[in-house]
Amino acid sequence: MIIPCQKHLFSIPDDVAYLNNAYMSPLMNSVVSAMGTGIACKVAPWTYTSDQFFTYPAKARGLAAQIFGTVADNIAIVPSASYGLQIAANALPLGKGQEVLVMADQFPSNIYPWQEKAKAVEGHVTILPVPHDHDWTREILGAITEKTAIIALSQTHWSSGATLNLNRIRAKLDRVGGALVLDLTQSLGAQPFQVSDIRPDFAVCATYKWLMGPYSLGFLYVDPKWHIAEPLEHNWMNRSGSEDFTGLTHYRDTFQKGATKFDMGEKSNPAQLMGAISALQQILDWGVDNISETLGAKTEMIVQALPDAKISVLPKDIRAPHYLGLFFADGVPENLPGFLSAQNIFISVRGPVLRVTPHLYVSETDISRFIGAIGTL
Ligand SMILES: Cc1ncc(COP(=O)(O)O)c(C=O)c1O
Repeated sequence: MIIPCQKHLFSIPDDVAYLNNAYMSPLMNSVVSAMGTGIACKVAPWTYTSDQFFTYPAKARGLAAQIFGTVADNIAIVPSASYGLQIAANALPLGKGQEVLVMADQFPSNIYPWQEKAKAVEGHVTILPVPHDHDWTREILGAITEKTAIIALSQTHWSSGATLNLNRIRAKLDRVGGALVLDLTQSLGAQPFQVSDIRPDFAVCATYKWLMGPYSLGFLYVDPKWHIAEPLEHNWMNRSGSEDFTGLTHYRDTFQKGATKFDMGEKSNPAQLMGAISALQQILDWGVDNISETLGAKTEMIVQALPDAKISVLPKDIRAPHYLGLFFADGVPENLPGFLSAQNIFISVRGPVLRVTPHLYVSETDISRFIGAIGTL
């Protein structure tokens, strides 16, 4: 189902065409108001009960679990994608001479933890080159061998918008017994994904882009077989019995159940959690399939209007619906971002690609203004 333009839910001026959700989503007015309610708890801490230290995280965890397609027990609350990826890198075995496969030009949060791990165990990180046609699925399937212990990927490449067939990658990886780690920061909430289909070992998503929530928050899926792994920090809330604030110095060796043991310290930030709860609920109300279909229609409208000689896009079967990479025959003109921002049109350039990433707040007028501006180049 196509969702009508939702610009009225945001504080985006009419003359701003914000086509840059992959950079950071704007907050909905309802999310800002929920965050304000959270701040009020800190203004008047006598209204913030010790129970709420646990009920707000539980609510956020439960909603995030629905978007990942899993149960709340498998979700940890983290401050960033890199935090979650470090938990994965610490947990997963990598032997001497074994490899971690990654894609060229991946976001660094999903590179550095693997490089450090490989260095520590005399393994190595194999960076696959960008395929000439951006068909990453073929490239990755062809590269998996017996020595592939871990593949660390995203569902959609953060610069080109090329999307991967994770089912096929998981199936091939099963044959060599490798682990799959996913950074879903540029897709979850806008592109259909179900843990139950893909069976990642770990999957992380920061909330501030396609989950439309606050910065400094994210969610980590941890497959039950890794619930035995070490958390990144040993904070008091993750130990069992921490709900009883009078007994915190009865130090315990046991953890809270499931993936809660991996939660970050000070997770109970009411402003952040209430904002995230509001945003996640709105995404579930719209429905990820509907969001994806609607954003697919918006990006397709842009594709159909592009001046073909100068600019190309990836073929539809490997292009994520919400994420349009524009490739210029002679490279992205250096002054283009400035030229567009002077007209209140916002996009980003990542590597050789102009990244156009609308969300439901983008109107037909916004798209026409962008197309009009590109047409004058
Ligand atoms: C693919 C991807 N992963 C992760 C992040 C953010 O990482 P972190 O939460 O570690 O700052 C970004 C930000 O642009 C990103 O594009």
